[in-house]
Amino acid sequence: MDRLPAVAWRDGAVELLDQTALPATERVVRCADAASLVDAIQRLVVRGAPALGVAGAYGVALALRDPAGVEAAAERIAAARPTAVNLRRGVEHALAAVREGRDPLAAADELAAADAAASRAMVAYGLDLVPDGARVLTHCNTGSLVSAGDGTAYAVARAAHGAGRLARLWVDETRPLLQGARLTAWEAARDGLPYAVLPDNAAGSLFAAGEVDVVLVGADRICADGSVANKVGTYPLAVLARAHGVPFVVVAPVSTVDLATATGKDIVIEQRSADEVTTFGGTRVAPEGAAAYNPAFDVTPPHLVSAIVTERGVVSPVTEQKVRAVAE
Ligand code: MRU
Repeated sequence: MDRLPAVAWRDGAVELLDQTALPATERVVRCADAASLVDAIQRLVVRGAPALGVAGAYGVALALRDPAGVEAAAERIAAARPTAVNLRRGVEHALAAVREGRDPLAAADELAAADAAASRAMVAYGLDLVPDGARVLTHCNTGSLVSAGDGTAYAVARAAHGAGRLARLWVDETRPLLQGARLTAWEAARDGLPYAVLPDNAAGSLFAAGEVDVVLVGADRICADGSVANKVGTYPLAVLARAHGVPFVVVAPVSTVDLATATGKDIVIEQRSADEVTTFGGTRVAPEGAAAYNPAFDVTPPHLVSAIVTERGVVSPVTEQKVRAVAE
């Protein structure tokens, strides 16, 4: 079966595989102007750091429909979500092309090709960190839905399966928006991986039972000191992994490393609507008017990260010097 790409430029519009509708429905959302792309990014029709970068870059071609307003429209796209550094980077990459009189579409195509190549290289490096018969725990969704290629952490697990090395992929459901249960499980089923979905709060007992050999997660922004912002719920996994002596591995392209952000405290964490927490599947579960705490990401400090796998090699131990060396 042909796979729809997460992001594509087709017939003058950005086409997005609608991740809000998966796994029930595979449908494409067409964004023919910058405003509709901003809306799609905020609703998570397209999501995941590398895919946001590619979408942002194609979005500059939409912004250019009004040459006088291109910079302002591009800024609205870049600011649609604050945490994943790739989004602003993707917009800036294509905007630089516009400023130099080049075609932003060609720049976006370059970015997509680089992202696919980075996936392949990360898989090659990451596979070395997955033991034979591995039971891998992952969080959120980091496969082909977040990338122009095979993705980041999930791509490593998928390759481990291809190499006959994956005994189990444990898929955190990833409350509140269920990127694990809806999206990673969908990809794992399509790819024939031996997977099981667990409630996020079952991870502790899974570690305690000795059922996890390695944690593989992605990242939305990696600071100069090696702090990792990723989907909320990642930090508790890192704490559990350390408590149980399990390697905690982050897989992310160099485009996710932001040397301008010194430490985790400097990362802007997106806060999302209370409704995402107080309702479930469209049904209210908390009392009317309940307040909620709903950060989209958390930050894992570098001392809890065993390794960061990039397309340029593996950073381990995670120190500022090594992070700078791989990203500069
Ligand atoms: O809010 P989302 O779904 O855009 O979350 C981002 C993510 O997909 C994850 O945090 C992921 O691990 C980083 S992107 C490969």
